[in-house]
Amino acid sequence: MLDNRSLAHAMEPVFRTPGQSRGLPNLCYVDDAYHRLEAERLLARDWLCVGVGADIPSRGDAVAIDAAGQPILLVRDRDGGIRAFHNVCRHRGSLLLEDRHSGPVLVCPYHSWSYALDGRLVRTPEVGGPGVHTCPSVDKEALGLLPVRVGVWLDFVFVNLSGDAPPLDSVVAPMAERWSDYATDRLVHAASDTYELRANWKLAIENYLECYHLPWVHPGLNSYSPLDAHEYRVFADRFFGPITNVYRASVAPEKVLPCFPGLPEARRLVGEYPIAFPNLLLGIQRDHLFGIIIDPLAVDRTRERLHIYLIDDGAARSEAETARIEAAKADLVAGWREVFTEDIGIVERMQRGRASGAFDGGTLTAFHDGCTQRFMQHVARAVAPDAMPNARVGQA
Ligand code: FES
Ligand SMILES: [Fe+2]
Repeated sequence: MLDNRSLAHAMEPVFRTPGQSRGLPNLCYVDDAYHRLEAERLLARDWLCVGVGADIPSRGDAVAIDAAGQPILLVRDRDGGIRAFHNVCRHRGSLLLEDRHSGPVLVCPYHSWSYALDGRLVRTPEVGGPGVHTCPSVDKEALGLLPVRVGVWLDFVFVNLSGDAPPLDSVVAPMAERWSDYATDRLVHAASDTYELRANWKLAIENYLECYHLPWVHPGLNSYSPLDAHEYRVFADRFFGPITNVYRASVAPEKVLPCFPGLPEARRLVGEYPIAFPNLLLGIQRDHLFGIIIDPLAVDRTRERLHIYLIDDGAARSEAETARIEAAKADLVAGWREVFTEDIGIVERMQRGRASGAFDGGTLTAFHDGCTQRFMQHVARAVAPDAMPNARVGQA
């Protein structure tokens, strides 16, 4: 079933015109072999979001992460830059780091080979015998940690395992341009949260890309940001999703937060919620930005890492005003947590539905599912590329 031609045949219905199209077949959500193929052909070849700068705030901080099923290290080096390496010791292949670490060197727990923050192998104790710390066959120069291509946009850290994706700057350029009114250099990391879902990663994204479910899954949100105040937009090839024009249209004075300085009036009620394909979900509004990193852990298991950034507008404030803003921030963060938690059960129900042999990918509606369809088309083109030379990515 996993040869290119069969895959292309199974995925072809996502390329039909809206209204005629169907979603991806069940195997894309339940099949382990498909999941590995997707990691290899899509996630490892693209710019995958794997973390945020706030995960490693200080020089010497390092964190172990998983990218497309491979162990990777993110490191804040001596100059404050972010580097990525394969998280595997060049000696006998032990995982170098579990979880996180802070310090000037990374020491392998097995035989204590030690690596500097720029990846250089700096110590190989006893390698030539007791008391002998060098050996002719161990060329330290050649045995540094293997680097992974890394890039940062906003505070989000991306890696490209294959090394040959187009430059990250050029990929994000259309969105950076669209959001150039927002003084994103004022953003400050304010909160994070992690959710585990018993569902395939794509379902979490597909759910984010439509607002149709608002009245039924998010009745609270829908009461002040209703379904009919949303539209869908393709901002760029890889950036598409819903927008609203009533973002906090009437907000109680005690809940007002600092806004992006100099933001044009026309932007004040706008909220934009695009995916940065393949795995970062973004939300920008006049008073904050959030990102949800979607980590595919297994074919039926996903982790979502939510990061919320608020704005430091540099204004001097009284103690009472600062306390009010802190309370307003807590309220905002709690509001998003509620919304994203409400989605979990419904995404897991979609996963359970994929066990049905009678499900044929379902119906993609012309109005609401254009962004979902576009996402699926991107996936299909990456996973079964040769078999669909003429497949066109449709418009949402
Ligand atoms: S495996 Fe790392 S030092 Fe031996
Ligand atoms: Fe939702």
